[in-house]
Parts: sequence; structure tokens; C-alpha cells
Amino acid sequence: MVDPSVLAGTRLFSALPPDAVAEVAGHAVERHLGRNDVLFREGETAADIYVVTSGRIAIANRSPDGRESLVALMGPGDLFGEMSMFDEQGRSADARALEPSTVVVVPFGPVRRAVDARPETLWSMVALLVERLRAADEALADTVFLDVPGRTAKRLLELAGEADEFQLPITQEELAGMVGASRERVNKAISQFVRLGWLTQTDRRYTIVDRIQLTRRAR
Ligand code: CMP
Repeated sequence: MVDPSVLAGTRLFSALPPDAVAEVAGHAVERHLGRNDVLFREGETAADIYVVTSGRIAIANRSPDGRESLVALMGPGDLFGEMSMFDEQGRSADARALEPSTVVVVPFGPVRRAVDARPETLWSMVALLVERLRAADEALADTVFLDVPGRTAKRLLELAGEADEFQLPITQEELAGMVGASRERVNKAISQFVRLGWLTQTDRRYTIVDRIQLTRRAR
């Protein structure tokens, strides 16, 4: 049994009434992960949805030669692992902890039963999938319309959020996997931003000095 409010806070479960959320939460368990622990691999048969309660989980695809493309980063309150509940095609990507993390593991069975009893709740589930599709469309458009420095600036701004000073939650290699370019080219773009006075960087600590220029470069 986990605290039902953890589930109720996610878009997928928000449409369910409190008693249904409590019923689903009664079947959920907590799982603790260390850095780099793999939760599941692409193609694996799936049985659970996950909600992050602390830490960060990387959703990634891997090329046959071992390169990694980071599809999404999941943080506290984010839900993932729902796609294979709908299509039963196995996991669409790997999930790996980037730092010590805790997730709530929710088996598909109780979720399916809750939705079967209230089909109207599928609206909020579809909204979650559409949100992912929109983000994927935008990422695809970025790879066509933006160059590597543009995509690097955009990703850094996304990772920074509102803050001007931030710590990158991922390695340079992982950032390159998110940008969709080699580490060398992403490093070169960052060095360029530092030279231009838009950014300072020490290891994983970044300070945005000129947000306006960096934002312009990300368009
Ligand atoms: P599933 O296919 O079960 O396992 C991998 C999970 O990663 C998937 O469900 C989604 O929850 C998540 N995922 C896959 N692709 C994306 C994406 N483009 N954006 C955000 N999350 C995704």
C-alpha cells in the first residue's frame, strides 16, 4: 500500500474518484533504485506503471552499437510505463535511474479494472499520450530545423527551468544523447556559449548569464 495522493497527483489517475485511486494504491509497492539501476529494458514484457517519488529516471533508446538517445527525463510526480499497458507490445524504451531514486510500482491489472469500470477516465489517459506525442513531434522538428548549438541551447534552457544557476542532472554523454549529437559537438556548442559570455560552466554546474541570447539561439 502506498499513499494514494502520489497516484492522484498524476494526470493518468487524476480522473479516477478517490476510492478507485485508493483501491489501485492498495496494490502498489515502493521500489528503491541506486544510480544506474535498470528498471526495465526496451522490448521486455511489461506488467507495471511507475510513478517517481524521488530522484530521476532516464527513458532511453539504444542503437545496436550501444549509443543512447535520451527520450525523456522523469522526475518526482512523473508517470511512465503506461504505453505498453495499452498496446501490449513490450517496453518502448529502457528506464534507468540517473541517481538514487524511489518509484511507486503500480500493476496494470488494477488500473485496467478501474478504467473498465469508468471508461470516461480514458480521456485523461489519452491526454497524457497526446502530451508525449506533441513533445516527440517538437523534438523531431528540432532535429530538422535546429542545428546542434540550437538544440543544445534549447535542452540547457529546458533543464534549467526558471533557475539561472543549475546543476546538470545528467552526464555530458547523456546530454549529447538528449540533443541527438556527438559529445564532441555538444561540448563545442557549450564552449562557444561560454566564450560568447552567455553561460559559465564548472563540471556539472551551469550559470546562465545571458538568457535572452541563449533563448534566441534555441529558436
Ligand atoms: P512503456 O513503453 O511501457 O515503457 C517505456 C516508457 O517510456 C513508455 O511506456 C512511456 O511511459 C515512456 N516514454 C516513451 N516514449 C516517450 C516519450 N517520447 N516521451 C515521454 N515518455 C516516453
